[in-house]
Amino acid sequence: MTDLLTISGLTVRFQLRDAVVEAVTDLDLTVRPGELLAVVGESGCGKSVLAHALLGLLPANATVTGRAHLADGPVDLLRCGEKTLAKTIRGRRIGLIPQSPATSLTGVRRGRRLLAETLKAHGRDPGLADHVAEQAGLDPADLHRYPFELSGGMAQRLATALALAGEPPLLIADEPTGGLDRPLVEHTLDLLRSRCDGGAAVLLITHDLAAAERVADTVAVMYAGRIVEHRAADEFFRGPGHPYSRGLLNALPDREFRPIAGHPPMLTALPEGCAFAARCDRVTAACARRPTGTVACHHPLTGAEVLA
Ligand SMILES: Nc1ncnc2c1ncn2[C@@H]1O[C@H](COP(=O)(O)OP(=O)(O)O)[C@@H](O)[C@H]1O
Ligand code: SF4
Ligand SMILES: [Mg+2]
Repeated sequence: MTDLLTISGLTVRFQLRDAVVEAVTDLDLTVRPGELLAVVGESGCGKSVLAHALLGLLPANATVTGRAHLADGPVDLLRCGEKTLAKTIRGRRIGLIPQSPATSLTGVRRGRRLLAETLKAHGRDPGLADHVAEQAGLDPADLHRYPFELSGGMAQRLATALALAGEPPLLIADEPTGGLDRPLVEHTLDLLRSRCDGGAAVLLITHDLAAAERVADTVAVMYAGRIVEHRAADEFFRGPGHPYSRGLLNALPDREFRPIAGHPPMLTALPEGCAFAARCDRVTAACARRPTGTVACHHPLTGAEVLA
């Protein structure tokens, strides 16, 4: 099937007074209709910046280059301009469940009115508000509240309902399970999965590998602004190729429950070679050159050593 979204060479830089933040670098990704692609990685590796770049939501100190081609009424998201993004893309063709929705929801309307207006703006029956709230796991009784009266988990579910209102063919869910307890995490993940099974594409951004394992078709691992591994989810969870991916998996409670030692590098002072070198137990002199490929590593894991 043809790709719905094709991102090539996406690069985002933030200009600070005396430094440049290399937030996303030369990122290539594709998503097909019906595919759930999980973008995973530790905090600060550029996942939310990726989402915001696609939707034109970055602040003025950002410079974005590359291409992000959305098929079906083709458009390059990085070049089409704010007017097109606002009128025809955001909410209609791409829905966003933002990270920290409690801060992005406007406080002046009650949840039901917010949802009904959003449904109406997308040409749907405003009377569906309760139904869409329920789909998102939000008790319709809570729709009478103002956003500021909602708990973090309720705000998360309202944001999910708002993103579903336009039935967008592509949904970007940025940490959609943050602040939810386990049953609601599962409800939200199953909801995303059911969107895909209905033909939509979902970009699930998460630091929660267990969430990705439950629902993803494909996994892309981000480290220091780059994709370091990208492959089918079943292969990935059976045996990742990148030492960083193995570290993420070994940190899971049902595996070794052992976090990766050290911290990601500063994005204002990235090394020339492999950005993971300072934390990697396989590093050699070759790693001073930047690795490329679908597993961006000079010494990828193979066979039996994969989960050793
Ligand atoms: N407006 C900004 N100005 C400067 N740096 C920023 C800005 N927004 C994000 N960053 C930096 O970009 C990097 C990636 O952030 P982000 O995409 O939010 O990470 P995450 O993977 O946790 O979602 C971080 O180092 C963050 O500090
Ligand atoms: S390229 Fe080298 S330092 Fe980087 S992950 Fe691979 S082995 Fe480790
Ligand atoms: Mg984020």
